[in-house]
Amino acid sequence: QTKSTHSPHSYDFIVVANRLPVDRSVDAEGNPTWKRSPGGLVTALAPVMENNDGAWVGWHGAPNEKIKPFDEGNMHLVPVPLSDEDVEMYYEGFSNATLWPLYHDVIVSPEYHRTWWDRYSLVNQRFADAATKIAAPNATVWVQDYQLQLVPALLRVARPDLHIGFFNHIPFPPAEIFAQLPRRAQILDGLLGADLIGFQRQSDANNFLRCVRRLRGHSVRGSAVHVYDDAGLPTHISRAEAHPISIDTQRIIDLAKSPKVQARAEEIRRELGNPETVLLGVDRLDYTKGIAHRIKAFGELLDEGRLSVGQACLVQVASPSRERVGSYLNLREEVEGLVGRINGEHDTLSHTAIRYLHHSYPVEEMVALYMVADVILVTALRDGMNLVAKEYVASQEDQIGVLVLSEFAGAADQLRHAILINPHDIDDLKDAIVRAVEMPEAEATRRMRIMRRHILSQDVTRWSETFLRSLKKDPTRNEA
Ligand code: G6P
Repeated sequence: QTKSTHSPHSYDFIVVANRLPVDRSVDAEGNPTWKRSPGGLVTALAPVMENNDGAWVGWHGAPNEKIKPFDEGNMHLVPVPLSDEDVEMYYEGFSNATLWPLYHDVIVSPEYHRTWWDRYSLVNQRFADAATKIAAPNATVWVQDYQLQLVPALLRVARPDLHIGFFNHIPFPPAEIFAQLPRRAQILDGLLGADLIGFQRQSDANNFLRCVRRLRGHSVRGSAVHVYDDAGLPTHISRAEAHPISIDTQRIIDLAKSPKVQARAEEIRRELGNPETVLLGVDRLDYTKGIAHRIKAFGELLDEGRLSVGQACLVQVASPSRERVGSYLNLREEVEGLVGRINGEHDTLSHTAIRYLHHSYPVEEMVALYMVADVILVTALRDGMNLVAKEYVASQEDQIGVLVLSEFAGAADQLRHAILINPHDIDDLKDAIVRAVEMPEAEATRRMRIMRRHILSQDVTRWSETFLRSLKKDPTRNEA
């Protein structure tokens, strides 16, 4: 196979993700331009792109808009267009109203519509085509996340010369739940097109391997899946491994050390009326995050007088997300109703119980908030990783903050010295909050020091290096 003759240039390293790593902004002269988004994934991959002649294939975020490929920094970006109907059926529909709830333990019911599936296949083909068109012979293509699970197999068929990786940023459900999915075989076959499939937790990789064995009948040895074609002939070996993602630790540390961010942190505390204890929640407004559980627990602690307004304040940042999907609309109603009720009952003229912010903020402001927070509450009902937990740890230069962390977040595998909780158990959650608020400084420091050591050595660059190194391994030598 050779590269497409239509391509002006071909690339040795290609990332395929639903979203491009840029946001639209306006430059000094008032012209529209693109700015690299602050996410950890792009930070980890930008150096790989620079050293390997890299390109990124993804959607630029607006429907019905065709944009020519362009360069941003040292990256070549290839926008994949999505129509209104694509957004409705591929993105909001199959990705976020079928797969997202199914993969997150059916916290809300997944919806199954055949038209959504058809559109998901079509759009996955579009992403795969965009990648094969620009891939140099023997290039490495790294596909990201649940929106694009069919892409690995589509790439393998079109371009058997490619090295194909896939990383699933969200949980992979147990076989008993995955089995509900109509077209489950196609999804598994799509993923198995990859040479290496990365998951956040070992339990996610195990769930996947069990699905492959039970629903596809492939033979699984350790992390290796021996894939057979319809005629029963072996085609290739695909591996499933845990590669927990992390953050750009140094960037958070640098911000936490910056005088500007430190001054902002002090200003925030003053603006909140100098409470003794600031508790913080930071999430996309998503039903997987356990936001209502956390607010309910905090409200009951106020009702019972175990905490009081003025002494304690909960700051909840809930950034807008997937706002046209029904379950997200319902969640917003629920959370805002709860906050309104609790504040109505407990606020004083000078102090509020819950400062609720339905906004997203730049990373500088987030680090200032992390520095203000004496306690952070990560109460996800299910979460692939939860990078907020890791960012909070990185920002605690003084080592005295306390992390309350759900055992249902992937981060719980690495941050064992957090106060680990089951967010469904509201009494347990309430006790954990009080314990965090009252934790002696020596204990908080001891726990934080151990967690910081981990986050310092295991950053997002380490994550991408480890994954890409494993991808290059010869699978025949990798069987357990
Ligand atoms: C999660 C997913 C990502 C997704 C992000 C934001 O972290 O794993 O793939 O990009 O949420 O969601 P959105 O739907 O706005 O892309």
